[in-house]
Amino acid sequence: MRVLLTGAAGFIGSHVAEALRASGHEVIGFDLRTGADVRDGTALDGPLREVDAVVHQAAKVGLGVDVADLPEYASVNMYGTAVLLAAMARNGVGRLVLASSMVVYGEGAYDCAEHGRVRPGPRSAADLARAAELPAGATLDEGGAFEPRCPRCGAALAPAAVSEDAPLDPRNAYATSKLAQEHLAANWARETGATAVALRYHNVYGPRMPRDTPYSGIAAIFRSALEAGRAPRVFEDGAQRRDFVHVRDVARANLLALRSGTPGACVPYNVASGEPHTVGEMAGALAAAYGGPEPVVTGEYRLGDVRHVVASPARAREDLGFTAEIGFSEGMKEFAGAPLA
Ligand code: UD1
Repeated sequence: MRVLLTGAAGFIGSHVAEALRASGHEVIGFDLRTGADVRDGTALDGPLREVDAVVHQAAKVGLGVDVADLPEYASVNMYGTAVLLAAMARNGVGRLVLASSMVVYGEGAYDCAEHGRVRPGPRSAADLARAAELPAGATLDEGGAFEPRCPRCGAALAPAAVSEDAPLDPRNAYATSKLAQEHLAANWARETGATAVALRYHNVYGPRMPRDTPYSGIAAIFRSALEAGRAPRVFEDGAQRRDFVHVRDVARANLLALRSGTPGACVPYNVASGEPHTVGEMAGALAAAYGGPEPVVTGEYRLGDVRHVVASPARAREDLGFTAEIGFSEGMKEFAGAPLA
């Protein structure tokens, strides 16, 4: 296939380009770093006349620093995708793979012993403040603490794997823009009979990850700290869970998604390892592989953070034939030794 790859010069995009080329696809890269902006419909027309599909990775990433970022997320991610979809329709390109994110879910899934599957709202500032003051090693659940509670009875909850049909609850500008991209792709697919697949990436890490910025996630933050000889700072009690998925697995998911989908719809998939780990474990594994310094658990917290988000990889396995191949220890060892971009 001949594929237009937006964000081709970025962290994930560069790995997607390699995976596509390695399996015989022809890649036309489109990236702001090489002067090509997805918000420029005219610039898209030329390359779109040549291709069979678009893999759309270009985006403003991260969780945003404050509300001053709202226009930029809306512009690059929402407006940029709208321009791209209109240009695809104009040029008769009917296949899209879209980079989405697990942030569209907000909190992960939770079960209450009495009330079954529940949706806890954001944790209260008072609970988080109380949790942060508990002595290290205290059983945090007893304090109310960092764990979200049942919205109906206040009981402790058991975290569960989030599936693609879980309720969507975007809690920041980035999450809102990623969900909007999915909706726009669904509108486009329905109107034109085209095929869209949205890949909801969990916490991606691996070689060529950009050094930390105010927009980075913990893989970049911890790896950059280690390189600077600083201990990774683990917030809350370190027991919050995420799914860390290697960037080459993410690239392979994109490749598989190109062959999948349903005409007239945008189908979402979790792209995850299926092996959740705590943030504390991740910091520990990376620091050990790097050769120190050891992480410190600080008890700090951010009001907007969710506690656990772990994914069910079942639908991606069944429909795309995607199963992550790079395990946690192996991946973290490689990441510790690989250069950052
Ligand atoms: C991250 C990304 C999000 C992306 C998602 C899936 C950012 C900021 N977040 O969300 O955009 O969609 O992965 O790939 O890019 N923490 C520390 N120490 C720190 C910073 C954070 O312990 O120095 C903790 C946080 O409190 C949180 C966890 O680590 O509990 C993960 O934080 P982070 O990687 O920033 O965001 P995610 O919510 O996982």
